[in-house]
Amino acid sequence: MFASQAHQLWIIEALGLKLAGSAPHTDSPVAAQGVSSLSSPTLGQRLYAALRESIQDGALAPGSQLPASRRLAAALGIGRNTVLGAVERLVAEGFLQAQPGSGVFVAEWQSPPPLPPCREVEAPPPLSARGTRILDFDRTLSGRHSAFAPGVPALDRFPRERWQRLLRRHQQRAPTAWFDYQSQGGVSALRDALCDYLRLSRSVRCHPGQILITQGAQQGFELVARLLADVGDTLWMEEPGYGGAQSCFVSAGLALEPVPVDAEGMNVAALPAQTPAPRLIYVTPSHQYPCGVTLPLARRMALLALARRHRAWIIEDDYDSEFRYASAPIASLQGLIEASPVIYVGTFSKVLYPGMRLGYLVLPEALVEPFRRANARLHREGQYLVQAALADFIHEGHFARHVAQMRECYRQRQAALREALAPAVARGLVLSAGQAGMHLVARLDTLAEERALVEQAAAADILLSPLSHYYLRPPVEAGLVLGYAGATPAEIARAGGWLAQRWLALRGEA
Ligand SMILES: Cc1ncc(COP(=O)(O)O)c(C=O)c1O
Repeated sequence: MFASQAHQLWIIEALGLKLAGSAPHTDSPVAAQGVSSLSSPTLGQRLYAALRESIQDGALAPGSQLPASRRLAAALGIGRNTVLGAVERLVAEGFLQAQPGSGVFVAEWQSPPPLPPCREVEAPPPLSARGTRILDFDRTLSGRHSAFAPGVPALDRFPRERWQRLLRRHQQRAPTAWFDYQSQGGVSALRDALCDYLRLSRSVRCHPGQILITQGAQQGFELVARLLADVGDTLWMEEPGYGGAQSCFVSAGLALEPVPVDAEGMNVAALPAQTPAPRLIYVTPSHQYPCGVTLPLARRMALLALARRHRAWIIEDDYDSEFRYASAPIASLQGLIEASPVIYVGTFSKVLYPGMRLGYLVLPEALVEPFRRANARLHREGQYLVQAALADFIHEGHFARHVAQMRECYRQRQAALREALAPAVARGLVLSAGQAGMHLVARLDTLAEERALVEQAAAADILLSPLSHYYLRPPVEAGLVLGYAGATPAEIARAGGWLAQRWLALRGEA
């Protein structure tokens, strides 16, 4: 269909109007120079958008001819190359067709079936059942990091300048290969440094080849769940337990079997006889999360024996054992016996900072190769520069120094929390022993009390993490998980004072 003179004039006029309507703000220096930026498209981009919109909304009918580029440019007062650029792009995308010797025409394209009315598309497609369950566990996350956020280290105390220097050093030196995909299991210098550290301070039995660097403990759990269990297999998990791990195991389709935690940690003896045998067992033996107790030797040995009997793997999550205040760090479960059925999981999220996203697995010999290959295939390895900087951070003694400083810092922050809560403790509020870690647990008598305090805290912009949220089954105990590591003593004093006062008021003792 060839356009009449009048139709061509109409096209020019319509495009002119659209271009005027989409003109960038004249006070934008970038736009004034005719250079594209995300907020101010170039003239060519605007012409392209105006033409495409006219084609898609049917104003330019299939088959209609565009005015010649020279004419269009002159009429719109823009350069011919700008017109040619926009037209070429629309030809390449199939909206226009160039017929040599005849001109450029709107393509005869099949219009898609009409879209459903707006009401039907307002809600995005629903999540899968698994997706919904994953989010069900996401109860303790919050954008707010205030006095009581559990698991957040002292970000204000991280030696940023030293870290930047190490990063810069490796940015300059890094082999080009590190910018490519990687599949070696991590930077060897980091695995060497970690191996020395784990052998010495955690009594882990390993050589560097057994260490696989991951993007945090979470990715380690993910790999273990996917590579060592099938959908529907049973995983025994501490109850109450760590929500991040719960989400991860649920998303892998595992059947989670809660194992009660008592004053000595995970108590498998309390499980009913008919409990399905485990394929995997998740445990935080050095410092049970969130209750804070340490699994005694007898239970450790029993757990190892049980795992051997069922041919199950134990996932030992050793997330914060560097921070013990009354004694040296507890030796790992992994290192207790030769060839233990344990996959040791560590993280730098607590000792350094969670945004680093670096953690590691210490794998039994037979699993090293399969895990390395599967990780490279599923997740791709990365951050070799950061890993190299971290290796130097450890080698040069900064890591040990930082851990020692943070141990002292957290000891003081815990003391500040205890001091702030002292008026309530004097009236019966029970706090966990706090011999280790970055949080205390305050026990409450009822779930109603827990709910009331959490609601009042939210209104006062204080983050309170209820103990009941750490349960898979209906909670049997109420309480509050009070992180203290990530807040300054002044913030702790304010929020702790508030909590003590609210707790007393709930009891009618304020
Ligand atoms: C019990 C436990 N394990 C592991 C982690 C660390 O996970 P990631 O290394 O994925 O940050 C956390 C962090 O909150 C935790 O509380």
